[in-house]
Amino acid sequence: MPDTLTITDNRTGKTYEIPIIYGTYPKYGAAIPAMKLREIKVSDDDFGMLSYDPAFGNTASCKSAVGFIDGERGILRYRGYTIEELAAKSTYLEVAYLILHGELPTDSQLEEWTWNITNHTMVHENVKKFMDGYHHDAHPMGILVSTIAALSTFYPDSRNVTDPEERSRSIYRMIAKMPTISAFAYRHSVGLPYVYPYNKLSYCGNFLNMLFKMTEVRYEPDPVLEKVLDVLFILHADHEQNCSANAMRSVGSSLPDPYCSTAAAAAALYGPLHGGANEMVLRMLREIGSKDKVGEYVKRAKAGEFRLMGFGHRVYKNYDPRAKILKEMAPKVFEVTGKNPLLDIALELEKIALEDDYFVKRNLYPNVDFYSGIIYQAMGFPVSMFPVLFAIPRTAGWLAQWQEMLVDEEQRIARPRQVYTGYDTREYVPMEKRG
Ligand code: ACO
Repeated sequence: MPDTLTITDNRTGKTYEIPIIYGTYPKYGAAIPAMKLREIKVSDDDFGMLSYDPAFGNTASCKSAVGFIDGERGILRYRGYTIEELAAKSTYLEVAYLILHGELPTDSQLEEWTWNITNHTMVHENVKKFMDGYHHDAHPMGILVSTIAALSTFYPDSRNVTDPEERSRSIYRMIAKMPTISAFAYRHSVGLPYVYPYNKLSYCGNFLNMLFKMTEVRYEPDPVLEKVLDVLFILHADHEQNCSANAMRSVGSSLPDPYCSTAAAAAALYGPLHGGANEMVLRMLREIGSKDKVGEYVKRAKAGEFRLMGFGHRVYKNYDPRAKILKEMAPKVFEVTGKNPLLDIALELEKIALEDDYFVKRNLYPNVDFYSGIIYQAMGFPVSMFPVLFAIPRTAGWLAQWQEMLVDEEQRIARPRQVYTGYDTREYVPMEKRG
């Protein structure tokens, strides 16, 4: 069987043979090089055929070896390892190494990696001053996005993105400083003094310390909550070519420093249809208010009044495997924190929606944001911090996507085409003749 596609242009009767490209799995990775379509022309001066694909619903913008999703079967893997196994056996820093380097680290590699991340957790005092300038009730995600971009001005050498060593330094800094900036953003928004990193604690332990330390001499993170946060970070580390990863690659393709690209990715994540959804889930559950009101709420969603937040996914047409892990983990959290009363509403909502024809027909299942918000809230995080908690771990994924794009010889500055539907040339109309 030849690995080609034959296209006949019925306008001209000409036939074109186009090669098929495969990834690891022929079933998921078969694609045609879109540039080949340009050969399809009606006449010599014709520009050639484009493919039209609003919102990239069926376009592979890159070859990638970082993450793999089988949306039909509800599978997510980083570098070949299943999310279930990584969540059960690994740590976030190890997973970040895996995502960025392609392999699990050896003992000494992990030690060096952890040392490097741990020793970049401080931010310049001027970053603190910069953050002080925000209004007292500024949304922490807004503070995070702009402060990440501001880091660009503190590390001008990071512009040298073709230098692997410079890239490594930026990667350490970024993964290390995200929790610090995020915690400062939170403390700022509640009017508490900033807490500096304490590097004897784990990545997540230190983050909890910077968030929640009050007057005690040493903050001791609860080991269960520290572990739960680490698992949440593992689950959010990468998700292949989603809206924010695409922003990272697209902005990064014009070769700015990685702080600017990461700020763009974090901005993309902020929207309610992406990483902002966990915040919206909580607001939705609060609005529903009690279990008995769920049926009525679902009816309104079906009537198109609004969408059920935390339901549906562009890729998963099955239960999101991350949501499954979180649902199972939730009771462990509640043993420490006490039960979140919103859980009962969430479980009822899931039950009703999964039995309903509207949701079944459209393959709408809970996504990762459905349960993460309930857990975060029980752990004491304010709702506005939820997208921030998504951005911290996703930084590893963004940076892996960015680095992969930079070394990929097939990549150039990202520049989509358009199908122009506007006017043909018109003559300028003087003001007095405009109706
Ligand atoms: N509630 C009700 N109906 C929905 C929902 C929902 N949450 N999601 C999709 N639908 C319906 C649509 O109305 C549409 O119905 P129609 O065919 O009758 O018009 C159908 O399902 C398909 O929806 P699309 O918008 O075409 O699906 P798309 O793949 O573009 O959207 C998205 C995916 C944005 C995630 C969508 O499901 C949504 O808005 N969900 C709620 C927001 C959310 O939870 N986002 C988090 C995503 S996960 C993440 O980013 C980490």
